[in-house]
Amino acid sequence: MPRYPDEAREQIRDAVDFADLVGARTELRRAGSGRLEGLCPFHDERTPSFGIDPGQKLYHCFGCNAGGDVFKFVQETEGLDFVGAMEYLADRYGVTLEPVAEDPGALERRKHVERLHELLDRTAGFYERYLWDSAEAAPAREYLAGRGLQEASLRAYRVGYSPSRFDVVLKASRRAGFSNRECEAAGLTQRSQSGPLIDRFRRRIMFPLADRRGRVMGFGARALGADQMPKYLNSSENELFSKGRNVYGAHVARVAATKAGSVVLCEGYTDVIALHQAGLQNVVGSMGTALTEHQVGELARLAPQVALALDADAAGQEAMLRAAKVAAGRKLELRVVPLPAGRDPADVVADGGADAIRSLVEASVPFVTFRVQRELAREDLDSAEAKDRAIDALRPVLAPLAPSALREELILSVADATKLAPSLVAGWLAGPRRTPPATAAGGGSRSTGVGIGRPRGQRRWTPPGPPQPPGAPNPAAAARRASAPDPLDLQERQFLAACIGSPKDGATFLADAEAQQALSTPLNRRAIAHLRSHLGAPASRTDDDPELAAFMAELVNRATHLHSRTVLEAEALKLRKARLDRRIADLRAAGAGDIATLAAERSALQHALDRLVPQAMEADLG
Ligand code: UTP
Ligand code: MN
Repeated sequence: MPRYPDEAREQIRDAVDFADLVGARTELRRAGSGRLEGLCPFHDERTPSFGIDPGQKLYHCFGCNAGGDVFKFVQETEGLDFVGAMEYLADRYGVTLEPVAEDPGALERRKHVERLHELLDRTAGFYERYLWDSAEAAPAREYLAGRGLQEASLRAYRVGYSPSRFDVVLKASRRAGFSNRECEAAGLTQRSQSGPLIDRFRRRIMFPLADRRGRVMGFGARALGADQMPKYLNSSENELFSKGRNVYGAHVARVAATKAGSVVLCEGYTDVIALHQAGLQNVVGSMGTALTEHQVGELARLAPQVALALDADAAGQEAMLRAAKVAAGRKLELRVVPLPAGRDPADVVADGGADAIRSLVEASVPFVTFRVQRELAREDLDSAEAKDRAIDALRPVLAPLAPSALREELILSVADATKLAPSLVAGWLAGPRRTPPATAAGGGSRSTGVGIGRPRGQRRWTPPGPPQPPGAPNPAAAARRASAPDPLDLQERQFLAACIGSPKDGATFLADAEAQQALSTPLNRRAIAHLRSHLGAPASRTDDDPELAAFMAELVNRATHLHSRTVLEAEALKLRKARLDRRIADLRAAGAGDIATLAAERSALQHALDRLVPQAMEADLG
């Protein structure tokens, strides 16, 4: 990847017409104080909570908290990395980009990788043409049509066919000026048993594997004849391609996944294409492997919620448990799509059409519900021991759940399945482990969280109740909104925004002793340190801290409503009060301290505020 000089960044930022850039994604209207607003391009909404500041060139959405500058906007909407976004904007707004001189080794390596990409891209194009135009590929076309896959969907993923002759790609690539070494490095050829180099892929349906920018890095190739082994031959791991680092179809799914706030994960290439064709475009494939950290990272980049549409068989269920383990500790909400036993998503589409798969995806359940249903399906819950074992296995699943309707519902379903009183079950599931029953089988050995190990007579996991009504609120967006900052954090942000809103007075307030008190979150502390020197242009110099950059965008947007000294004074007082509230709460929790004095101080503040706030509101209107 080329590097560009630091000045290029600001040159591009200056050249961008931000209203034009964003306007191409969502319709914008004037909203006062120079701000423009519209429907958020990052989540589904009916009333605008998304706004931009065309002068500062920052955007922010109060609905889903997306926000940032021109580069972030392009990264998110076009699925590019930072350099890619620079190139995109430079091209669009006519800035000439000159890469900084690289050391010769790095330059050579970059040129090499670019050549491999070019070779892979040409080859994908060749396979694609061969599928649609050659007589040899007629059986492949029939096979695909027989599976209900249409040309338009196959073309969206650039599916192709590799000829049976052993050196077509090699020869064509040589003619186009590529070396044997390059063909090998791109994973397109291999040594035959007798020695010479031959094409790796022959007589197979070709699924190009692309990175999230859509650049081809390798292939998955499906056998057509029963005599061909293996069923899927993939590119060998090479300098460009690594199966465990990517999910299939991410570049196609990206926009739809961002909008929906969720992404569906299935196993196979054909599943992805079938779902896409059924109108679920936020779909990607795991390519049959156990999910890796990297793949979970790729999923998290696409959307905050993942619906697992993996096989309902034992292997698929274990894959889901493993996925949950890998996803633990990330802010990724997992749901499980209840596939019928023995059918993959492509089968469901083939059997029941688009509606069948769509209603299954809508009927997805939270991962924890899947766990509970799975435990309860494990064994006949007739004997007392079996019930105790089930409760033991479910304790680590349910005990950590915050009190909620979902938790209540799950406890009821356990009570129902075990025919025990709900109040008893609730107590047992919340409490510490009982001592294991003194049976020879030692029923307590299954108490560890995931409980994959022991094979048991498993009942098939059957799909749970009716689908959620369509138009139910997007749970991921709701979750993002639900993780609202606490009152002190929020008030600190208001105060910082008010300083931005009236920068002259803001500078004095930021320097004031009261403001010197440590703010309550690391981000707010970074922000105040940054603002002390960049109050006039809050978005500048944040390039190496994307979190801070997004935060500045949020604050600048907040600031458009906060632009007078009186407002600033009120926000400063409110901050003092929020701090007092926090101290009082802490003292209460500790059961000690001079709460009375603090309370007196607080009521004095409240009086001052009662006077100031009406003035502030008037000032804000003016
Ligand atoms: P499946 O065997 O379930 O295949 O493997 P599939 O996708 O349903 O394919 P069809 O429907 O028979 O055409 C799921 C995924 O696992 C990977 C592939 O990515 C496949 O799509 N896989 C499977 C391999 O990489 N190699 C194999 O030999 C088999
Ligand atoms: Mn299949």
